Amino acid sequence: METFEAIAQRKSIRSYTGAPVEKADLEKIVAAGNAAPCAGQISIAVITDTEYLAEIDEATFAFMQNSGVEFLVKRSSTPGYRPLYGAPALVVISSDPERGTANVAAAAATMILAATDLGLGSCYVGSPTRVLQAGEALAERLNLPAGFTPLAGVLLGTTDDPARFSRDRAPADNVTFIG
Ligand SMILES: Cc1cc2nc3c(=O)[nH]c(=O)nc-3n(C[C@H](O)[C@H](O)[C@H](O)COP(=O)(O)O)c2cc1C
Repeated sequence: METFEAIAQRKSIRSYTGAPVEKADLEKIVAAGNAAPCAGQISIAVITDTEYLAEIDEATFAFMQNSGVEFLVKRSSTPGYRPLYGAPALVVISSDPERGTANVAAAAATMILAATDLGLGSCYVGSPTRVLQAGEALAERLNLPAGFTPLAGVLLGTTDDPARFSRDRAPADNVTFIG
């Protein structure tokens, strides 16, 4: 797939078949993440353990319900809503919370484009990182370097969402060319 084709086709996928992602694909995707621009260190955890995914899903759901944030409460109250959408893989990207946010975002975006190129669905997710903060019991298995905390998540999986490769994008009105 051409890079611009992958960019055009990428959209957040919130419906997965549940079929496991092949290890070779996961390896290509994390290699892409590690090839992203980075001004510091990041740590990447690839979670495919179904019990751990279910625990994160449940804790994230409870967090959203109890957050007091209207958008999160409303979103998680949608019938059948699950924060991980049944994805068989969650990549958690961690870094120094003071300076690492841009580094994890660059890695996540690059992984998402790689996943699109491989024909996989993906979704950037912030909400699960809220229950995987350093020091929380649920975060222990991430084996994070000292001082690191999860800052971004990427869901990955096959999808049969009929709209998976078609996102209507409004013409951009937020761009200024100078010169
Ligand atoms: C920092 C960040 C956090 C996000 N967190 C979530 C999330 O927790 N759950 C979710 O379903 N989507 C999440 N998204 C996806 C956005 O909702 C999505 O990218 C946006 O609506 C645009 O749609 P598109 O990705 O299909 O182009 C997040 C995106 C970003 C960049």
